Amino acid sequence: MAAVPSSRTADWWRDAAIYQVYPRSFADGDGDGTGDLAGVRTRLPYLAELGVDAVWFTPWYLSPLVDGGYDVADYRTIDPAFGTLEEAEKLISEAADLGIRVIIDIVPNHVSDQHAWFQAALAAGPGSPERELFHFRPGRGEHGELPPNDWPSQFAGTTWTRVPDGEWYLHLFTPEQPDLNWAHPAVRREHEDVLRFWFERGVAGVRIDSAALPAKHPQLPDFVEGVDPHPYIDQDELHDIYRSWRALADEYGGVFVGEVWLPDAERFARYLRPDELHTAFNFNFLACPWDAGRLRRTIDDTLAEHAPVGAPATWVLCNHDVTRTVTRYGRADTAFDFATKAFGTPTDPALGTRRARAAALLTLALPGSVYLYQGEELGLPEAEIPLTRIQDPMHFRSGGIDPGRDGCRVPLPWTADAPAYGFGPAGEPWLPQPDDWARYAVDRQSARPDSMLSLYRTALRLRRSVAGFGDGPMSWLPAADGVLAFTRPHGLICVVNLADRPAELPAHGQLLLSSGPLDADGRLPSDTAVWLRA
Ligand code: BGC
Repeated sequence: MAAVPSSRTADWWRDAAIYQVYPRSFADGDGDGTGDLAGVRTRLPYLAELGVDAVWFTPWYLSPLVDGGYDVADYRTIDPAFGTLEEAEKLISEAADLGIRVIIDIVPNHVSDQHAWFQAALAAGPGSPERELFHFRPGRGEHGELPPNDWPSQFAGTTWTRVPDGEWYLHLFTPEQPDLNWAHPAVRREHEDVLRFWFERGVAGVRIDSAALPAKHPQLPDFVEGVDPHPYIDQDELHDIYRSWRALADEYGGVFVGEVWLPDAERFARYLRPDELHTAFNFNFLACPWDAGRLRRTIDDTLAEHAPVGAPATWVLCNHDVTRTVTRYGRADTAFDFATKAFGTPTDPALGTRRARAAALLTLALPGSVYLYQGEELGLPEAEIPLTRIQDPMHFRSGGIDPGRDGCRVPLPWTADAPAYGFGPAGEPWLPQPDDWARYAVDRQSARPDSMLSLYRTALRLRRSVAGFGDGPMSWLPAADGVLAFTRPHGLICVVNLADRPAELPAHGQLLLSSGPLDADGRLPSDTAVWLRA
């Protein structure tokens, strides 16, 4: 008998397919050009038909949107551009009725400079208890005119801004995102309250933004990369914080996924110990070039680093921070690198699409849970944003060198022949959609069995209904150079051909799905993947 997929049980997170909604760009219900919760609610049936188990919403809270909502002014209020708390509650319960769980995004490292705490800290002045919630320091130099230390920002530039009374405050990201002081008990209490607030409203999980950054060395020392111990990445104190979060989540059956980007496998796995986070994003897979040997090593390393702590791996090909998969895989050098992200780097969309289709079958066949970013199921390429419309602070803070992340955040095309491709009832979308996006629209793709959307729908349906996918073992099969072939339980086989010549498929396999047609001799062409059952 087929095993019950764990997506239906308390362990759903061990093999869930989770869809990332960037609310600003998913669907616009009120026609103001910005996506919103009303828009999401009308499209929940689309997500149910796609076959996802959960939706992760990037921040939807009150925010000046300086960094796309990762600058939170109030966690208990939905930004009016997106809707109201009441609508969020309705959305959570309507999604649950369709079998879809909701995951929210919490940003512990920093708040918006408009947050009440930061406004109070500015008003209260040096030495006040209000300032202790942040990292305020006097400057260096004769008149305090130099920043308190030499830390570079995660977004180019300095990490310190001076306020009129002469003190400086720390911000690892933009000046509008002051870092919280996690050594302060009120900061911990507040976040635990925020978690309860949302778990009590029925959310099933929480994505933790920049999860390895919030704790800082108490002296905020200068450091030389590669020489000194890092003063803010991966500090030991974080584990105590996440253990208390886990105890709280367990009261509600809630789960965590951490945004933990650490090169050291052993340090990474510490976050996934049984009393800490349930899962963490596996960015090494996303960052890996389209190369069989390197992908195989990345998959092996990922599984090996998760095994000792018993946590399932997560697989992700793209998100709101990186160049879209089709564009990345269409480049001769597919390595993830913010520098090669510059527009004008030649990309071959047909090649990128073929590889993205094959990568989808590879990803969905691996053991663990998988994240899809809105528009990935439509095969959207990275859009080129005219300079005058760019919004991402990353672009501005790099002095215009980095194109920023807007190209992967463009509003979705739903209806080929409607204004703004049906993104909303009217109104110019907040980011311009390319002129040739009608072909990616959901209605066009729904009608075509060979579309990216049809591939994702079929693949997700099979992943749910056929035993052997999701959590569990995998083993590599012998394969030609440049070919990845592995088995999963119940006779499932996945073969991906990354070589530049056709590959033989195992004899006697029943074809469940392929990312493209086989050749006349029944062989698997380059950049194509299949699922078989032995
Ligand atoms: C989010 C980014 C955001 C940054 C600062 C990240 O890792 O995914 O979109 O800009 O954290 O909050």
